[in-house]
Amino acid sequence: MSKTIAIAGKGGTGKTTVSALLIKILSARGTVLAIDGDPSSNLNLALGLPLEETVGAVREDMARQVKRGKFDPGMAKNAYIEYKIHESLVESERIDLLAMGRPEGPGCYCAANNMLRDSIDRLTSNYDFVVIDNEAGMEHISRQTTKDIDVLLIVADNSVRSIITAGRIKELIKEIRTHVDQIALVVNRVDGPLSPEMQQEVEKTGLQLIGQIPLDPNITALDAKGRPVIELPEDSPARKTVHAVARKLRLIED
Ligand SMILES: Nc1ncnc2c1ncn2[C@@H]1O[C@H](COP(=O)(O)OP(=O)(O)OP(=O)(O)O)[C@@H](O)[C@H]1O
Ligand SMILES: [Mg+2]
Repeated sequence: MSKTIAIAGKGGTGKTTVSALLIKILSARGTVLAIDGDPSSNLNLALGLPLEETVGAVREDMARQVKRGKFDPGMAKNAYIEYKIHESLVESERIDLLAMGRPEGPGCYCAANNMLRDSIDRLTSNYDFVVIDNEAGMEHISRQTTKDIDVLLIVADNSVRSIITAGRIKELIKEIRTHVDQIALVVNRVDGPLSPEMQQEVEKTGLQLIGQIPLDPNITALDAKGRPVIELPEDSPARKTVHAVARKLRLIED
């Protein structure tokens, strides 16, 4: 059984960074499927992987073919989708990447969506870990492509507004999801203790704060060189904190 971890939070708080570091840490313990749920698709850059066709493009292409009557009636649509999903997968040694691309637009082909969901569900079961880097805001979570989430990790930064967003995400997930095992909060890019206002806001959300990731000059240095954040050395402060978070979430033991 694979463990599914979804990362969510307000824009720019560090979701992609935390996702990439977590993916790197988990990949030392098992195989990881990284899902980029952000239409602007940049998880690949954080992982140092190329970007192939997105799932959204597969769906649009199929919808176009069906509409024009060009889809070969002899070909099973679900087999075709399964094939295209595998083709979209970027494979590396222990980390594979699937980019979702744009969500379905108006006039979408719903049967294709269901087939996509089934294909992705089958794909995810092949991995030890599935990590989903979501786009900012909450809208996308309601269209989540995978069924169950073991861990929802909400990323905030040192701003009260990002904590309020975190609280909203928690409420939203309760409304739409039948099954999330664990929800936790990390505050990113923060040095020293949280302000009383921040602490108060965290308390209001009822979320468990399981880590404070420091502002890491090594990340800033990698950013400036355009290097992927997974190159962050093991003893780097942010990486060490994400490691501790993974342990607290019982994703890893050591
Ligand atoms: N702990 C940290 N120390 C230093 N820089 C950081 C840290 N965390 C994130 N950053 C930097 O902050 C910027 C925003 O981070 P990131 O792209 O991970 O946020 P995001 O939440 O995924 O944003 P978006 O909502 O646009 O997807 C990046 O340049 C990243 O390298
Ligand atoms: Mg991002």
